[in-house]
Parts: sequence; structure tokens; C-alpha cells
Amino acid sequence: MQSREITWLGRRGAQSRIDCLPKENICSESVRPLSLSGHVGFDSLPDQLVNKSTSQGFCFNILCVGETGIGKSTLMDTLFNTSFENSQSTHYESQVKLKAQTYELQESSARLKLTIVNSVGFGDQINKEDSYKPIIDYIDAQFEAYLQEELKIKRSLHNYHDTRIHACLYFISPTGHSLKSLDLVTMKKLDSKVNIIPVIAKADTIAKNELHKFKIKIMGELVSNGVQIYQFPIDDETVAKINSTMNGHLPFAVIGSTEEVKVGNKMVKARQYPWGVVQVENENHSDFVKLREMLVCVNMEDLREQTHTRHYELYRRCKLEEMGFKDTDPNNKPVSLQETYEAKRNEFLGELHKKEEEMRQMFVMRVKEKESQLKEAERELQDKFEHLKKMHQDERKKLDEKKSLLDEEMSIFNKRKAAAEFLQAQAFQTTPQMNLKKDKDRKNY
Ligand code: GTP
Ligand code: MG
Repeated sequence: MQSREITWLGRRGAQSRIDCLPKENICSESVRPLSLSGHVGFDSLPDQLVNKSTSQGFCFNILCVGETGIGKSTLMDTLFNTSFENSQSTHYESQVKLKAQTYELQESSARLKLTIVNSVGFGDQINKEDSYKPIIDYIDAQFEAYLQEELKIKRSLHNYHDTRIHACLYFISPTGHSLKSLDLVTMKKLDSKVNIIPVIAKADTIAKNELHKFKIKIMGELVSNGVQIYQFPIDDETVAKINSTMNGHLPFAVIGSTEEVKVGNKMVKARQYPWGVVQVENENHSDFVKLREMLVCVNMEDLREQTHTRHYELYRRCKLEEMGFKDTDPNNKPVSLQETYEAKRNEFLGELHKKEEEMRQMFVMRVKEKESQLKEAERELQDKFEHLKKMHQDERKKLDEKKSLLDEEMSIFNKRKAAAEFLQAQAFQTTPQMNLKKDKDRKNY
């Protein structure tokens, strides 16, 4: 096996060299920890990273899945403290559609390219069996677009507009009962493709004790049906505590409103009812703050990372395996992309050759078939022709016979006619003498 060589600057600037084996063969002892005697400057790397990311801007894509009028748009407006383009959907869509809109937002120095994708007409069809399909198709289409960019010879992933869905807010109706089968089926289908964060919508319409039971019921149903929702990560100790607490509050019961109401001497976002005011950001009234904290302030980067490392990776792996690429052969030996490509190419050429041969044989067979059909038709035609020819000859013979008979009859007739004419002529010559004799006889009388 070939060894690679790396160079690093030793403690006193002296150049040291080590032969370094490929990563899998490196044992931890081969890395020597050294202390620096003075400032080098690579401690600015995190800042460099922050500056680079800040100047590039961030992109975050949210998918809102929930029934028509459940409060998706209002919640998005409330979450991002702005007013996105919203148009009310009808309940008469023949199938579920996905509508994506992208916005540029800026907060201090951070620029966020935010895409909000809304499910339109979800839950409105009589037959809801395929409601999840357009959503899956949309998510896959975004993965596919990214994969295609990745597979390009000239790729530009650094300025690629990543449209992969980072978080799916699944809006549950505040029924207080249980999840609908549509919710379970949809979440089950989505859970391997996207980070699902379930939320109970319009939580102001459900009583506090009922809400608690409802949450427990929902979580129980999700677990018993094997639906994997997004868990806020607890491996990073800086956020482990808050995230594990928040995992216990799922699904968040949220309220949305962009209306400002005066409470005490402060204007707050709230929903005003004849009997009182429900404050969006009051943690006694709703989990809205928890959702905003978890989705935007604490875990946005983790959601992006999970999308790339878990969901996209799974899509990519399945897609490449489907195309015939694999990392190891049946004997568990590593296979390079080049080898797979060559094998695939040969397989393809073999198949092409086989197909060609099959088609050639089929063509020959067809030609033979056609030839025999044509021969058969020719023979039939020949027979027909012979038959007609014979019929024609017979007919002609009959006609000839008839003609000779007629000719005979005609000659007899002509002879008779001539005889008759002769007799008539003779009769005409004798008639005047007879007339004279008659006149004489009359006079004598
Ligand atoms: P479509 O896009 O048409 O499917 O609707 P949507 O899901 O975006 O719902 P939207 O935000 O347009 O809200 C529909 C109605 O519900 C509006 O009248 C909102 O004021 C109301 N609404 C939104 N959020 C809440 C909430 O938290 N509680 C209550 N009670 N009503 C809400
Ligand atoms: Mg809407």
C-alpha cells in the first residue's frame, strides 16, 4: 500500500516529516500533540468561518403541511415577524399541491434566504389515500436537483440555491381527541425524508387540561406507529439541557397572530376574544416561544445539517444504488467508482448487444413471416388468375360457338332473304301483263 507524506511545522519551526498512512490505518498514537510557544493565528479560524458564512448568507427552507385554513400562513408571519405573501386557499382542490415562495430576510448582519412551502388543499379530497404523494414528490425533487448539481462535472454548490426542505412543520388539528389516520400516514411517509416538527395548531381553541392529555395521546400514537419525529439534539452540551427539556414539550401547541393588542402598557401579539386576550408570546398561553426558540434560535443549523447528513444522504445512497453504484463487491472488497462505471458500461454494452441480436433475429423472423405470407398471397392470386383465365376461355369458347351458330343462322337467313327478294322481283315483272289482260276482259264484257 502506498503511503502519503504530510509536512507540518514542529515546535521550533523545524520542519518535520512523517509518513502518514491513509486515514483508516492511522492509530491515535501517530498524531503528536505539541504546544505552541507563541501566537500563530489559527485561533481565528472560527471567526473566519463565521465571517465567510455571514457574507455568503444562509438558506433555510420550511415546509408547512396542514389542512386548509389551519393557520399555516399566520404562524409563519408570526414566527418571522413579517407579512409574507399569503392568499387564502379554497377547499375545492382536486389534489394536494405544493406552493413555494422564497424571501430574503436580514437580521443584524445575518442574511437569510427563506423558502416557505405550503401544502395547498391538504385534507380536502374525499379520497385522501394519495395526499402524501405530492409532498414526497416535492421533497424528492429538491434532493434530486441537489444530487444532479453534485454530479455535474462543473458544479457550483457554493452558490447553488439549496431548496431541500430543512424542517417540516406538521399542523395537527386541535381536536383534543387523537391524530387522524391522514396525519399518521403522512408523517410516517415523510419521516425518513424530512425533519418533522409536529405542532398543534390554533391551540387557543383547546382547554389547558385537555391540551396536556392531547399531547400525551399524540406522542403515544406517534411512538406506537413508529413515526420518527425530529428530536432536538442533545449531543452538544451547550444546548443539551434546553433541547432535552423542549423534547418533552413536543408537540408544541401554537397560536398565531400578527395583531398587536395592548396588554398593561405594552403592545403584544395576541388574539382578542370577547372574553379575553390570548397572547402569542405568553408561555402560559402557548408554546409559540418554544417553537421559535427551537426552530430558529437554537436548532436551525442542526436542522440544515440533519437534512444534509441524514435525509439527503439516504436519498443519495438509494439513488446511486438504484443506478448500480456500490462501495463494495459481493466479497466485501471495496469497489471504486471507475470500476463500477466500467462494469456498468460493459453490462450495458452486453445488454445492448443482446437486444440488438434479439432485434435482428426478430427482424429476420418477421421478414421470413412476411415473405411466406406474400408467397401465399401470390399463390392465391395465381390460382385466382388461372381460375379467371379458364373461366374467360370457357366463356370465349361458348361465345365463339354462339357466334358460329349465329353466323350460320345469318347465312341461312341471308340466303332465304335473297330467294324471297328474287321471287318478289319475278312477281313484280309478271303483274303488268296480267293487269292489261284484265282491262281487255273488262272492255269486252
Ligand atoms: P390556507 O393557506 O388557506 O390553507 O390557510 P392557512 O393554513 O394558511 O391559514 P391562515 O393562516 O390563513 O388562517 C386561517 C384562519 O385561521 C384565519 O382566520 C386566522 O386568523 C385563523 N387563525 C390563524 N391562527 C390561529 C390561531 O392560532 N388560533 C385561532 N383561533 N385562529 C387562528
Ligand atoms: Mg395560507
